[in-house]
Amino acid sequence: MQPAPAAAALLAVDDIAVAYDGMRALQGVTLDAAAGAIVALVGANGAGKTSLLRAISGIVRPERGTIHFDGSDITRLPAHEIVRRGIAHVPEGRRVFASATVRDNLLLGAYVERDRNARARRLDEAFTAFPILRARLEQRASTLSGGEQQMLAIARGTMSGPKLLMLDEPSLGIAPKLIPEIYAGIRQIAARGTTVLLVEQNVREALRVATWAFVLQTGRVVASGDARELAESDLIKRAFLGL
Ligand SMILES: Nc1ncnc2c1ncn2[C@@H]1O[C@H](COP(=O)(O)OP(=O)(O)O)[C@@H](O)[C@H]1O
Ligand SMILES: [Mg+2]
Repeated sequence: MQPAPAAAALLAVDDIAVAYDGMRALQGVTLDAAAGAIVALVGANGAGKTSLLRAISGIVRPERGTIHFDGSDITRLPAHEIVRRGIAHVPEGRRVFASATVRDNLLLGAYVERDRNARARRLDEAFTAFPILRARLEQRASTLSGGEQQMLAIARGTMSGPKLLMLDEPSLGIAPKLIPEIYAGIRQIAARGTTVLLVEQNVREALRVATWAFVLQTGRVVASGDARELAESDLIKRAFLGL
């Protein structure tokens, strides 16, 4: 008999391999995310972080391995069905609809939600996480700063009411003074019960906000553990923090 998966794991990735034209980007990655946690996946450029998020989202098909979410196998489901099951993916590069207003960008994120009251409640929650968005509501997204666009992209990801929010490099290319505001919003989202899978090459910041972390190197998990303990480990200090 197979042992039952740990009850608290919302997401369980088991032995996932991904290749592009025969070139291996992920070589058997296993990780999980406990419900309600902020889990960081850190690693250098090219380590395979984005490939893992794309495999979870159903954008790329893994060669082998399984992905379980909320008690069921989602490995071979189409991307739109994975969204419907409760996974939101905010890709790299803060993509927003530049000529649409902040309000319309947010409401586009809620397209799977038919209930008006639920949409209104989610808007309020988005403003709690990122108050600046309320002040910018009727502005076109193109008029926002890079950091504000990233807040909008993350907030849009929450508008479908996901159980799991996957964020790909939310601090990349953001003015340093805005990064704490972005992380404060992420904390706020997690505090409401949304599980967050945070992908970062900004290892220092990611380990500060996460509870648990996985370190990816050339397509393999080389370390995992309590985020604060990992931050103090020789591996992290030498490989990423230049200490
Ligand atoms: N669409 C693609 N086609 C071919 N190779 C790719 C593609 N996307 C990523 N790769 C390669 O896969 C590896 C992992 O990339 P990626 O998952 O983007 O890593 P990260 O997000 O950690 O920077 C890299 O060697 C990258 O060049
Ligand atoms: Mg990437």
